[in-house]
Parts: sequence; structure tokens; C-alpha cells
Amino acid sequence: MIARELITGVYALTAQDWDRKRFDELVPLPEGTSYNAYLVKGSDKIALIDTVHPSMAQDLVAALQQLGLPRIDYIVANHAELDHAGAIPAVLAAYPQAQVLANAKCRSLLAAELGLPREMFVLIQDNHTLSLGDRSLRFMWMPWVHWPDSTATYLEPDHILFSCDFLGAHLACSELLADDEPRVEQAARMYYAEIMMPFRKHVVRHLERLAAEDIAMIAPGHGPVHARPAFILDLYRRWAADTPQPEIVIPYISMYDSTRRMVDHLLDRLMAEGLKVQPFNVVELDSGRFASALVEASTLVFASPLVLDGPHPAMANAAFLVNALKPKVSHAAIIGSYGWGTALAENLQPLLSNLHAEWLAPVIVGGVPKEADFAALDGLAARIVQVNRAEGV
Ligand code: FEO
Repeated sequence: MIARELITGVYALTAQDWDRKRFDELVPLPEGTSYNAYLVKGSDKIALIDTVHPSMAQDLVAALQQLGLPRIDYIVANHAELDHAGAIPAVLAAYPQAQVLANAKCRSLLAAELGLPREMFVLIQDNHTLSLGDRSLRFMWMPWVHWPDSTATYLEPDHILFSCDFLGAHLACSELLADDEPRVEQAARMYYAEIMMPFRKHVVRHLERLAAEDIAMIAPGHGPVHARPAFILDLYRRWAADTPQPEIVIPYISMYDSTRRMVDHLLDRLMAEGLKVQPFNVVELDSGRFASALVEASTLVFASPLVLDGPHPAMANAAFLVNALKPKVSHAAIIGSYGWGTALAENLQPLLSNLHAEWLAPVIVGGVPKEADFAALDGLAARIVQVNRAEGV
């Protein structure tokens, strides 16, 4: 790791985790990730904003030492999750005079996670300003993007927002700045889907607060730095807005091809109407791509055979993920084929209690779909077309 100067006296220390395949053993990382710390030199004081994953703690310390700093006065902990705070003990070992700044919630979490004594912390308040001499830091509490302690730190007079998780992207890359916007958008969208979408209302609230700020640069805790803040702010406004786009997502699974034939029929009908449709086989579900597809989708159709008297377990797993991510879909439906048990909708729909969607009539078929069943799917397709062409969708 090397320290790279963002502007005079402000350095990015980005630990690139090129090889990491999953975050929290859960979130796929097709392009790795980075953990970003930032160092700010004021005329009187020096502050380190966030640290890195504990596995890269010594890399961070070595990069700091290469800067030849006389000391570090403050370590600002925007967020207690260890991918940002896990190297605080290593930095304190190298710079023992540093004070750790955190809000009360963050302090509680860090005390539990790192075993740091509570008296070591200096508590920060929302909108509190800390002088570094010719520069100052202002702390902006931003709870639930994505933990209750989440905070952003705003540097004045340089107008840099250190946003930690908020507005970030799981993307390991050599470039310091987010100049490759299509690539960054793809990574940021998947990151938003997996990390921020469950907290969409909080995202909207914090975006409204940021709209009142003069922001020249957004320096997140993951991924490259935004020298054009409108790029990521506009994307977040679109993704978090209440109105979905006319896009249909179909998680499906089939055991004897009956459900598969139903999905194919529905797909054909929807595609013939020019709608965007994304089917996902949930047997080996790419949860990152799936989550990303849910960000702006209007309609979800769950297609599953019955196993015993309920959905296939792989579909139940996909439904659990959807329910956790809380996408803004306006309509949902269930289709599938059964052998002897018939309670597909009765046992699948309750797994999706977080969806604020209108449920369309299910199409549940005994065995192989027949003419009347395809006609029922035509009816479902017509209804999906109708609601997606209705005003506001
Ligand atoms: Fe990147 Fe919530 O940690």
C-alpha cells in the first residue's frame, strides 16, 4: 500500500483486496474490494480518518510511516465495522498519543469488538466541528448506512466528504479516482443493492442532508474517490427513489421442466411486449447479480415447483434474500407446478412480508402445464404488462 495525495496535505491510503471473493462470507466480490483510510494534515493537528481491514493493518502502518509524520493526533472512526476500524489497535501501537474519535454508538461497538477501554475515546456529536488549524473536520451522523453508528466526516475548507460505507463500491482498482464511470457504476450498484437497499429510506434522508452541502469530492471507505460527486449522488437518488422501472425479475427453479416451461412461456409473452425481463436460476444463484437486478425492478415473479407442501428450499433461500434486501417492487406473483402438495403460494408468500407489493393472482399447475394453464399465464403476462405501462411504473 502507498499513500497517494488527493489534494495538498490530504492522502488516500487504499488497501486493495484484489483476491477477496466474498464479504462477510456472504456478499460476492467479483472485482475484489478496497478498504480506504485517509490522512489529513492541518497546520496544527493531523487526523487519520478510518483505518482498514485488520488483515492489512501493518500495510497501513507502513504507508503512514513512509509519510514521515511527526505524530497522529486523531483517529476518526466513522464506523465500527472492522473493515474500517480493525486496524485502529495497530495504528495506536505505532502512534500511541493518538486519540480515537467516535460517536457513542460507535464507541460501544468498538469497545466490544476491539477491547479498547471506553476512556480512550473522545465522543463526537452530530455537526460538531474539530479544528486541525487551517482545516477542520465536521462530523455528520448518518445512521443506518449501514450500521446505527455510521458517520461521515466533512473536511473544510476543502469540501471533501469522507463517507465511509455510504456511496462506496466493492471494487479493487489501481485508479485513485472513479474516472471509469461505467465500471464504477456497475460495482456501486451491486454494492448499493447488497449493503444499502435494505435502508433505502435512510439513504433518501441522508441524500437530502447532503444536498445542502457544497461537496467537491467524495472519498468513500470502499472503491475509488469521486472527483465528480454528482455522478454517484445522482445514481443513489435514482436507485433510492420510490418509483421503480418497468423491469421484471423472475427467480425460478424447476425439477421436471414443468415450471421451466411456465417460465419460458411467461418470458416469451413479456419479451414480445418489449419489457425488460431477467430470469435467475436459483440453484446456483449469483446473489450479487440478482440483488443488483432488484434495485429498480417493478415486478417479481417467483417460479418454483413444490417440494413436499412448500417451495423448493432453493427458492425459499432466494425469497429470504429478497425479503432481507427489501426491494421497491410494486407487484409480485407466484407461479409453479406441483405433484401432490398444492400450498406453494400459501407457504412462499409469508416469507416475503417485507415486500410492499401488490400480489397478482398466482398460477399453480398440477403436473405438466396444459392449454388452460398457458392461458392463465397469458393472463398474468397481460396484467404485468398493464401495471408496468400504468402511470408511475
Ligand atoms: Fe464497510 Fe459497514 O463496513
